[in-house]
Amino acid sequence: MKYELTERPRRLRTKPVLRRMVRETRMSVDSLIYPFFVVEGEGIKEEIETMPGQYRWSIDRLPELLDELEEHEVYSVLLFGVPDHKDETGSGAYDDNGIIQKALRFIKKKYPEMFCITDICMCEYTSHGHCGILCGEYVDNDKTLEMLNRIAVSHAKAGADMVAPSDMMDGRIGAMREALDEAGFVNIPIMSYAVKYASAFYGPFRDAAGSAPSFGDRKSYQMDFHNVREAIKEAQLDVEEGADILMVKPGMAYLDVLTKVKEYTERPVALYSVSGEYSMIKAGAKLGFIDEKKIIGESAVCMFRAGADILITYFACEIADLIRKGEIG
Ligand code: PBG
Repeated sequence: MKYELTERPRRLRTKPVLRRMVRETRMSVDSLIYPFFVVEGEGIKEEIETMPGQYRWSIDRLPELLDELEEHEVYSVLLFGVPDHKDETGSGAYDDNGIIQKALRFIKKKYPEMFCITDICMCEYTSHGHCGILCGEYVDNDKTLEMLNRIAVSHAKAGADMVAPSDMMDGRIGAMREALDEAGFVNIPIMSYAVKYASAFYGPFRDAAGSAPSFGDRKSYQMDFHNVREAIKEAQLDVEEGADILMVKPGMAYLDVLTKVKEYTERPVALYSVSGEYSMIKAGAKLGFIDEKKIIGESAVCMFRAGADILITYFACEIADLIRKGEIG
């Protein structure tokens, strides 16, 4: 029997060298950012129950983590602070002696190569767990902007290389750019959590950071996951206001959004594969239902394939290993 096949796509899949040659997506450790949590106190490396393999670190023990990251050639980190004291206005967030400010000074002194990005938000620092200043039960947008500016400037003073506002207030990028410039930090870039949805995928993070809202939810400021055109609106506003990098968050279930944002902008686009995504893979692997390493690698590749220029992931070291071994990339 003779088949008149003119195209045989399988031809390019016959040998590993050839498959690697024609790959459309290339991976680099340079594009990975590792997020972690810093707590007050000493001698603390406390495992986060809902995120096995992730820890809350006191500053004195950070070298264990930072050495491991450097061994994997991961040189970018995203810092989250878990303070001892919380209050109505989240004052710990802009205290020059706050947990993040101290951690930044420590890291920049001992690990000058590490590129330190800081999350700018209030939910870890407010007694009510919301991302801003309350007016009744509503988060007041414009009052919150002033606080966010103070946090950003305080982080920059302590040595932050880049700031990443995650609060989802309107107008925050423009306001923050102006505040940073006025304080002399014209060269500190802003990576905006431009497209951040109100998502149950943040559940484990809120355990880790103790930042769950004490009442209500975040739906009056974070985006509704039914929407995608709104993502372009948010991205557009942040570009106009001066965001240097746009972020989409969460990752896995939101890759359509990522692709659309990437098509819209010429700016670098980051994707945050969040805590719930990490925990699902960990839980599935622990039960023996999935192959952990393969799922980590495949998911990461798909995120880049969908348009990510940068990936923020708790699996940064694992992905770096997979790239080095040639299993992905
Ligand atoms: C702070 C913030 C959150 C995350 C990043 N920054 C939590 C939230 O918005 O409730 C989530 C990250 C993750 O789940 O890994 N606002």
